[in-house]
Amino acid sequence: MFTDRVTHLEAEGAYAVLARALEMERSGREILHLELGQPDFCTPEHVARAGMDAIAEGLTRYTPPAGLMKFRELIAADAGARRGVTITPDMVVVGPGSKPGLFFPTLALVAPGDEVIYPDPGFPTYHAMIRVAGGVPIPVTLREENQFSFDLDVFDSKISDKTKLIILNSPSNPTGGVIPLDDLKHIAAQAQKYNAWILADEIYSRLVYDGMESAPSIASIDGMLERTIIADGFSKAYAMTGWRLGYMVAPSALAERLELLVTHSTGSTAMFTQYAGMEAITGPQDFVREMVAEYQRRRDRLVDLVNAIPRVHAQKPQGAFYVFPNVKAFGLSSKEIQARLLEEEGVAVLAGTDFGPAGDGYIRLCYATSMEVIERAMEKIHRFFERL
Ligand SMILES: Cc1ncc(COP(=O)(O)O)c(C=O)c1O
Repeated sequence: MFTDRVTHLEAEGAYAVLARALEMERSGREILHLELGQPDFCTPEHVARAGMDAIAEGLTRYTPPAGLMKFRELIAADAGARRGVTITPDMVVVGPGSKPGLFFPTLALVAPGDEVIYPDPGFPTYHAMIRVAGGVPIPVTLREENQFSFDLDVFDSKISDKTKLIILNSPSNPTGGVIPLDDLKHIAAQAQKYNAWILADEIYSRLVYDGMESAPSIASIDGMLERTIIADGFSKAYAMTGWRLGYMVAPSALAERLELLVTHSTGSTAMFTQYAGMEAITGPQDFVREMVAEYQRRRDRLVDLVNAIPRVHAQKPQGAFYVFPNVKAFGLSSKEIQARLLEEEGVAVLAGTDFGPAGDGYIRLCYATSMEVIERAMEKIHRFFERL
């Protein structure tokens, strides 16, 4: 009845768990939420105010599909400075969130039968959009022993002349892992050798810890900007998930095609949201620094609490706001652990397999929530695993 393009699509695991958790809450159970990957902070006041002022001033119209030129200029300067490269405004296409920056480049580059390498475990949208484009998904496992970076030998065995696109996500959802510069250099050399494009999902690039300024970007490596699309946005760095504001950066000829995909799909991004985005870039950045410091405090506490559980262990991830503990010792599937934690302890987490088969034996804990919730949830999780 429906096309192949859509019959394989599945909901994100987070929404299915959230729906069950909300149902349990409606029946009076208290649920501690560690499942949804969105900041618990409010959008900074000055940014929200800029959006509201724009509405009050009647700035509520269509904008050019690729975004307001002033905004594209600001994004180009900011995104370029943070990666040490020159990005011009014609390379920037604004979209409602960073997700269009994943979908549209895939539609523009991947023809039926083309192979696309992507991380497993990885953000479920990658697999979905590869299939929608008719591409062949080629998962490459992220290895815990490599700080959840690609196993480069496996990567080398999967890349070939058929590889059209390589998707990277650093820092990663669901592992929090940051791809080291040396690994990026290896991947870059292979992309050049096989003439493949890179789609770098860098939505978490500013959420990095232990004194790191920004996660290394493959776009910064010599000769790579011309074959890289960067997907980034405002959802995570400025706590703006519901505003729907992001952008893609691509070589200008590709950016023109991406703009046309925006023209014929979403049309444009809300004008007042773009004004809020301009304030986010040009206004004070203390909020980002303070938020990152708070995430780091939570991460440290959460990792300590996880590692205090017998037979469970987790690395201390360098980025994003997820911890990805290894729970293989119990011999249960991730899905079973996720379902039992919710039903028996009222703690909502995600199964590693919501991010691909290589996520089995792991669960994802999101620490974009208060320290109090983290500590109470971990008490229950500890009790649960001791009981198993
Ligand atoms: C890895 C990754 N990429 C992209 C997105 C989408 O973000 P946006 O709200 O900017 O569309 C998310 C959201 O959770 C994510 O985790």
